This record gives sequence, C-alpha cells and structure tokens, in this order.
Amino acid sequence: MPGTDIISGYCIDVFVAAVNLLPYPIPYKFIPFGDGHQNPNYNKLVELVASGDFDAAVGDISIVTNRTKIVDFTQPYIDSGLVILAPVKQHHSDAWAFLQPFTVEMWCVTGVFFLVVGAVVWILEHRINDQFRGPPKRQIVTVFWFSFSTLFFAHKETTVSTLGRAVLIIWLFVVLIIQSSYTASLTSILTVQHLSSPVKGIDSLIHSNDPIGIQVGSFAENYLVEELGIARSRLKVLGTPEEYARALELGPSNDGVAAVIDEQPYIEIFLSTECSFAIVGSQFTRNGWGFAFPRDSSLAVDLSTAILALSENGDLQRIHDKWLTRSGCTQSTDLESDRLDLGSFWGLFLICGMACTVALIIYFFLMLRQFLRHYPVEETDSSGQGSSRSARSLHSFFSFVDEKEEDVKNRSKRKQMQQAGNNNADIESEHRFVSP
Ligand code: GLY
Repeated sequence: MPGTDIISGYCIDVFVAAVNLLPYPIPYKFIPFGDGHQNPNYNKLVELVASGDFDAAVGDISIVTNRTKIVDFTQPYIDSGLVILAPVKQHHSDAWAFLQPFTVEMWCVTGVFFLVVGAVVWILEHRINDQFRGPPKRQIVTVFWFSFSTLFFAHKETTVSTLGRAVLIIWLFVVLIIQSSYTASLTSILTVQHLSSPVKGIDSLIHSNDPIGIQVGSFAENYLVEELGIARSRLKVLGTPEEYARALELGPSNDGVAAVIDEQPYIEIFLSTECSFAIVGSQFTRNGWGFAFPRDSSLAVDLSTAILALSENGDLQRIHDKWLTRSGCTQSTDLESDRLDLGSFWGLFLICGMACTVALIIYFFLMLRQFLRHYPVEETDSSGQGSSRSARSLHSFFSFVDEKEEDVKNRSKRKQMQQAGNNNADIESEHRFVSP
C-alpha cells in the first residue's frame, strides 16, 4: 500500500502462502521495485536478481526463455498466455438479417442445387409421369415449382420412377440439414447478443499495418518482434489501464492502436471495468508467472513444491478468486460468429451431386437399351451415311426419350400385331396358290 510498509496483492499472497508451507522458516523483507505508477521493466528486475541486488523477485514475472538463462524460476502459479484486446461494437440485426446465416457462396450453390435436382427429377420422370409432361412452358414452371417447394417438403408432384425417388430422398435429406442449420443460425443471430470487432485474430493483426499496444516492460514486445515478425515500429508501449482504454478508443487512424496484446490476467482485470472492449479469440501463447531466484537456489525448488501443494489443496484458486475474479460490467465475449459457409456442407452437396450423376447414367443406359429394342439399328440406320446418319439416330433417340413410355409401348405392340397380320396373309395366299 502506498506510503506504508504493507505490501499486498495476488503475487504477494501466493508467495506468503507458499513460504508458510516450507518446513523451515525464512525471514524476508519486500522492497518495492519501480516508481509506483508505471509498470517497471520485468527484464531489469530479473537482471537485478541475477546480479545479486535482490535475493529474489516476487511478482507477476513471466517465465520466458531468455530469463531462465540467468535466474531460476519456481513452478508457475498462474496461467498467463497472451491475448488480444480490441474494441467491440454490439451487432444489431437489420431487415436483411435473414440472409446472414449463409455466405453468398453457400446461397448460390444451394440455389443451383435446387434447380439441378428439379431438372434431374424432371428427366427421370418425364417419360412416365403425366405431372412432368405438357407444353414446354408448363414443364419449366413445374421444374422451378417442384424444386423450390421441396424446401418446405411441400411438393405436390408425385415421383413414380425408382431413380427419381432415390434422388429425391437424398435431396430431401440435404434440404433437412440445410434448413435446420439455417434456422439454428438465424435464431442465434436474432436472439444472442453479438459483438463485432474489426480485429479478427492474431493472423489478421500480423498482416495489417495497424499499431499494436503492449504493456511497458513486458516480454510481449520481444515475442511479437522476434517470434511473430511484427515490425517494432508498429508497437506502442502503454503504461496504465487508462492508456489502454484511450489508445483503443482513438483507434489506429487517430494515433491510437487497433488492439492491445497482453497477458490474460491483466486483461481480465481491465475488462472488469471496461465494457466496450473484449478479448478476441483465445490465448495464442502458453505462459505462466513464477518467482525468480538466483541460479541454483534451493529455495526455488522448495517453493515450487510448496506451490504445487497450494494448487492441490485449493488455496491457489482461493487466492486467485480473492484478487482476480471481479464482477464489473458483464458482457459476453461471444464475438460475431462466422456465417455458415460451403466448407460445412460440401460433403452433402457432393453426395447429392453423385446421386444425380449416377441416376442419370443408369437412366441413360436403360433408355439406350429400350431404344435399341424398339428401334433396331437397321431400322434407324438403313439410309444415309456417316454424320447425317448418326445425327438422325441421335435425333430419334431424343424423340424416343421425350415420348411417353406408354405411347412407345402401344406403338410397338401395334407394329408387332401388324407384322403378325402380314405374316398370316402371306401364309394364306401361299396356301391358296398350292391348293388344287
Ligand atoms: N508479466 C510481464 C512480464 O513478465 O514481462
């Protein structure tokens, strides 16, 4: 406490509790380090322990490699990875919120599939189902109407072919999944409080050129420059929580910062009073705070054992809750969730696309077999040559596919009967000719 000899805080309480667990007494005296206003440089503090100016350093000192080269740390007593703090805005739904559950790509692919499935079912049903026949205009309307009414499982046209039914059942399953995902996503968009931030995560921050705030004297500076390759000129050193808030409010275009990168415990305390900011994403480093002792100090080992005991008996958590769990403004850090995109559904579209393709191939071979049975090769190819002959065959194949199956069967039955009649007449005239 300023102006008194009493020094208290989270790290001090953990240290005192750990020392009390040692099997031998150790006398100690806390000497404050820094000017009491701005955070001191943690590297300097560690160097003073290494040089023997201090017997140990008790505080929120992160255990990082270059420090472990000159001092020994105890076991970490708190998890303290780096997180991104950024300004957030409440996201209000508008008149077009119903379009938000899917990305543009997803809407387009879904629309195309509705039409493709409609067309495939029309092809498969056209020969045998009167509901898929009629003048061209009516058939086009039927394809559109049929395909889009499957969205509500409200299609009135019945499918009678096995292949058509197979395609339709797979498509209805896809529609079920798409429909329920859309409903869930839209419900969440309209009911859950959504926060949106211009900063999307550490990758977007690295690739932008915006200034980033860091805590004065923190190891974060070296980490961001050496490990993440962020230019040192982009880092803005901030000394107090008020400076954090001011720099974030100003933003990158007004000499402020786009985001602050600092350790989670500091940010959690900051957020207990500041409601217009939030942590974006999750911790992207794994660190911890420990107490620093000169190299080969047996106290570091004994205090590590004591810290483990504190952790196991729950005291560490109790001290944490006493100092670091603050109820201030309660705000959800549930940032704007990504829209549902094709990545989550392409498997379904693939299955449906494959079902349509296989059904069309099977249908093509069935038609070809029937066509050859009803119009034998000699009949269709009896005159003409080369390309005109194959064009004629192709044309008669398409006319055959377009014809109603019943008509084709009736015609072929008539033809057979006619042939049988002709044969009988021939036999009769032959009989008259030979008879006396
Ligand atoms: N906790 C800040 C640092 O150790 O650098």
